[in-house]
Amino acid sequence: MLLDPATVSATELYRFLTCAVVPRPIAWVSTRAADGTPNLAPFSYFTPLSSAPPLVGFAIQDREGDPKDTLRNIRETGEFVVNVVSEPLLEAMVTCAGDWPRGTSEFGPAGLTPAPAERVGAPRVLESPLQLECRLHREVPLGNCVFVIGEIVAVRADDALLTDGRVDPLKLRPVGRLGGELYAPLREVTSMPRPRVSRATGERTG
Ligand SMILES: Cc1cc2nc3c(=O)[nH]c(=O)nc-3n(C[C@H](O)[C@H](O)[C@H](O)COP(=O)(O)O)c2cc1C
Repeated sequence: MLLDPATVSATELYRFLTCAVVPRPIAWVSTRAADGTPNLAPFSYFTPLSSAPPLVGFAIQDREGDPKDTLRNIRETGEFVVNVVSEPLLEAMVTCAGDWPRGTSEFGPAGLTPAPAERVGAPRVLESPLQLECRLHREVPLGNCVFVIGEIVAVRADDALLTDGRVDPLKLRPVGRLGGELYAPLREVTSMPRPRVSRATGERTG
């Protein structure tokens, strides 16, 4: 098939891209409104961006022309926490993506506990094994989305996730997003060392 973005609707393109660019990590973003109400929602247009400074970014689509609660709260407070969705938290994460009215804390229907973060006022998800605490670095408007870039000011990980001082993905058990209602828990993991090449000669040395 050949798909010409100029001839298909934004919805069709969305469906195509979310099935083609897979699996995607999920930023489960907790925020706090100016009145203190906690909010929690998943975003899979998500990626790390740089390590110095440590930046992550995720894109929030508008909701019929209005900002979603996550974006409103980040604008009000300048802070958010990215919580990792581990396999036991899949159903709770999806519960948070319901069209809950503004002012509802999704922590309640999802059966989760908002806990104080170390360096930001936004709550973290107590049940999540790893969190990135972020301050708003920049907002980038992108058509029907706003790309939110956050600077990580603290990382919290359960000690049980570590192997030789590093986060072990097999212990983290993250869930990726596929298209539609499909998700990808981590199953088989493969190791593949990179070739060693002499930059001067282009020859392989190992
Ligand atoms: C796994 C998953 C990933 C999602 N990714 C995005 C995304 O990248 N951008 C977006 O705008 N909405 C995304 N959504 C939809 C939002 O989570 C949903 O609109 C949510 O209700 C927003 O909540 P809020 O209004 O509290 O911010 C996703 C939903 C799910 C289940």
